Amino acid sequence: MARFPIFVNISLAAFLILGSLANAAPCRDCFIHSRATHYPNSDDNGTEIGQCGYGTLGATINGGDVSAASDLYRDGVGCGACYQVRCTNGNYCSDKGVTVVITDQGSSDHTDFILSRRAFGRMAQNADAAATLLAFGIVDIEYRRVPCSYPNKNITIKIDENSNYPHYLAFVIWNQQGRSDITAVQLCETQSYVCKLLDRTYGAVWTTTSPPSGPLSIRMLFSDENGDEKWVVPVNDIPQNWKPGDTYDTGVQVIA
Ligand SMILES: *[C@@H]1O[C@H](CO)[C@@H](O)[C@H](O)[C@H]1NC(C)=O
Ligand SMILES: *[C@@H]1O[C@H](CO)[C@@H](O)[C@H](O)[C@H]1NC(C)=O
Repeated sequence: MARFPIFVNISLAAFLILGSLANAAPCRDCFIHSRATHYPNSDDNGTEIGQCGYGTLGATINGGDVSAASDLYRDGVGCGACYQVRCTNGNYCSDKGVTVVITDQGSSDHTDFILSRRAFGRMAQNADAAATLLAFGIVDIEYRRVPCSYPNKNITIKIDENSNYPHYLAFVIWNQQGRSDITAVQLCETQSYVCKLLDRTYGAVWTTTSPPSGPLSIRMLFSDENGDEKWVVPVNDIPQNWKPGDTYDTGVQVIA
């Protein structure tokens, strides 16, 4: 019985050491200071010609709360990532700010984000404050990565309009929840299970020339910030007669 307190003390010491190591690591949920501006367009939504290649979705996904990112674009890996962005002027800005989805790349005068006007205004406490913020143009902000949330939606594949059946297949993947990145995609034949790795051509756009005929299964590699990776295999296949512009529900979702 006398040894028991010693054991407790050792584990307490180990706990304290581990605790201070954890504090030294970059803090996962901490806000980072930066600056943000908004698109100069008159539309409240984002742009349909964003660098991620989402097309019209790039303007309207997440209710139009979208943004261009500068370094956070990460050569397209950052497309589809969600960030909580809040401005810091206590006279006009709410504590909660806005959650945006990255659909474009860009920067302007040391900004990390170019928000849609809708998203920019949503950082404000009320409509008057939103008008003032929009007039400022550039504001100081804090941001952090947060899970994306698409209630009642599965991960969806949109065949790019520039695809050319059956010789050239290009698509984007959207509506993925959570805070992992899609870092690789495999195109698999559903009969033979032969798969090939695809190229990220730009942004969120994956392409292949001469795709196999027959139904296709698009597998996605999700990588989280700890470096953990997981292949997600869809329930639904892309039908044999896929069409440019069509969207296909994968039947799977990751937990936000
Ligand atoms: C902007 O986005 C919203 C939300 O998706 C949509 O309802 C609206 O039609 C869009 N406006 C334009 C001009 O595209
Ligand atoms: C998502 O996928 C599940 C399982 O495949 C399916 O039952 C459900 O209807 C899908 N949800 C939507 C919104 O399509």
